[in-house]
Amino acid sequence: MTEPIIEVRDLWHWYLRGTPLESVALQGASFTLAAGEVVGIMGHTGSGKSTLVQHFNGLLRPHRGSVRVFGSDLGDKHVDPRPLRRRIGLVFQFPEQQLFDPTVADDIAFGPRKLGCDHAEVRRRVQGAMAAVGLPFDTFKDRYTFGLSGGEMRKVALAGVLALEPEVLVLDEPTAGLDPRARRDLLNVLRALHDERGTALVFVSHNMDEVAELVTRVDVLADGKTVMSGPVREIFREERRLRELGLGVPAATELAGALRERGVALRGDVLTIDDAVEAMMWTSSSSPAA
Ligand SMILES: Nc1ncnc2c1ncn2[C@@H]1O[C@H](COP(=O)(O)OP(=O)(O)O)[C@@H](O)[C@H]1O
Ligand SMILES: [Mg+2]
Repeated sequence: MTEPIIEVRDLWHWYLRGTPLESVALQGASFTLAAGEVVGIMGHTGSGKSTLVQHFNGLLRPHRGSVRVFGSDLGDKHVDPRPLRRRIGLVFQFPEQQLFDPTVADDIAFGPRKLGCDHAEVRRRVQGAMAAVGLPFDTFKDRYTFGLSGGEMRKVALAGVLALEPEVLVLDEPTAGLDPRARRDLLNVLRALHDERGTALVFVSHNMDEVAELVTRVDVLADGKTVMSGPVREIFREERRLRELGLGVPAATELAGALRERGVALRGDVLTIDDAVEAMMWTSSSSPAA
């Protein structure tokens, strides 16, 4: 196997360390990501998800344990994390709060300009990023940033990170606060980024349905520790454990469980609506009464 892009081992992190308000946010977190993977990080509020992902591009530095990203040891104070920030794109929670330019295209162009790209390259990147998030360039380039809908603003923020052409995209609760349609839209954008461009994704969420739909592997954090890690189908089989951790299972999994309790024989793991439909088709076509 090739070396992981991100490898975190036994990571500890304190806030306000050395003050009377000191608190530990991570106490034994681990994480790995290989090229092209789509990995979820779940955990209830305060479990350390945001703290963990800010170590992936050196915004935070490890207090204990190790963080290696593209072969750089981020525990080494002499390592400059800035070159990593264009390879690992971090989309913060509510990223639209960081938009600042009145026009859409200029806001997205900020990153490539800062990288020193020439005019043609900036334009190419802005057009590419807008296409990737589904904002047609000619329609949106001169629009007033702060007059957009919530879903559109979030897409502009995402495009601003994509314009850096990162190999990995880390998204901290990217659908929080969006309406159902904007959520769906954004998930489709992310799926296409992975399928068409091979971008690796780290998807932080406490929405089980979205995790089930998007990711192949998932880590669960609780009290700053990684307490579960594995293929998404295996993790969602541990329903009781997930509930103890203040999480749940996808709605489709819950439905399948309720049907099984009532004696309906369903085949396989049911994580998504598509799985549920397939399991039920199989049940009805195999049942003697059908
Ligand atoms: N800037 C900060 N200063 C002090 N404590 C913080 C700060 N950010 C987070 N924390 C604390 O660290 C813990 C982990 O927080 P966080 O990483 O934001 O978790 P999550 O993203 O899973 O909600 C929580 O107890 C939180 O209150
Ligand atoms: Mg968070």
